[in-house]
Amino acid sequence: MTNLKDKVLIVTGGASGIGKAAATFFSQCGATVVIADFNDQGSLVAEEITANGGKCLFVKTNVVKESEVENLVAKTIEAFGRLDGAFNAGVEQAIKPLHEIEETQWDKVINIDLKGVFLCIKHQVKAMLNAGHGGAIVNTSSTVGIGAVPFAAEYIAAKAGVIGLTRAAAVDYAQHGIRVNTVAPGMTQTAMIDRMPKDPELMKIFGAIQAAVPMQRMGQPQEIVEAVGWLLSDAASFITGAVLPVDGGHTAV
Ligand code: NAI
Repeated sequence: MTNLKDKVLIVTGGASGIGKAAATFFSQCGATVVIADFNDQGSLVAEEITANGGKCLFVKTNVVKESEVENLVAKTIEAFGRLDGAFNAGVEQAIKPLHEIEETQWDKVINIDLKGVFLCIKHQVKAMLNAGHGGAIVNTSSTVGIGAVPFAAEYIAAKAGVIGLTRAAAVDYAQHGIRVNTVAPGMTQTAMIDRMPKDPELMKIFGAIQAAVPMQRMGQPQEIVEAVGWLLSDAASFITGAVLPVDGGHTAV
């Protein structure tokens, strides 16, 4: 079992999907978890974890607002005295060819998926530097941050940006004992996938993407967070700046 004993970890996007699975799993691995989400459902996830004997706090946070991210980190230190690590998530795309993407849609996805991750890393790292004990951060890219699929230009740009941001932060803070990595999940069974429009043309494209996955199936949230938990743990002590695909072999072909 992954050992996260005594670590205080922030999980953004922890109200749903991969983030919810992460918060629950990290708690089972011994961590104290702070769930950050702009959706109040995050408090129900925190209550569930607490009811199962874990230590968990929900801090309502919109990751695109710097003051809210600052507040998230401050509340974590106030409640638990330290911050050892974080798992930073994001949102999905509109599913349109590039020439049909509105400026507002571009701004929304780049803001949440890229600026949000930047703001989270910035304030998480500040807390770790102040404490001087190092730490570990895992960001969420995607297989489409590595190779493109149709109709997702703004999302692909953001997720490729997350890979660059991860490497930049890894290099900036390696000598302070702060490791920064990213996972690149393949299609994973969450509400994000359920929300995707079901038009036949699109289903054909999704079908082709899935058919190209050597394991011939989607991932489950638990399979993603097992990898994240390991990257956050001391078992991954020499790994920083890495992009770990968790994708049934998709990026290998
Ligand atoms: P989800 O929709 O189930 O969960 C996303 C969570 O983020 C929600 O709880 C939502 O309220 C929260 N959120 C959205 N915007 C926010 C904001 N501005 N501030 C705070 N919280 C916010 O999605 P899922 O599938 O769990 O995705 C999580 C991450 O994994 C995303 O970054 C997504 O791009 C990435 N990913 C997902 C894949 C999939 O197939 N599900 C594949 C590859 C990457």
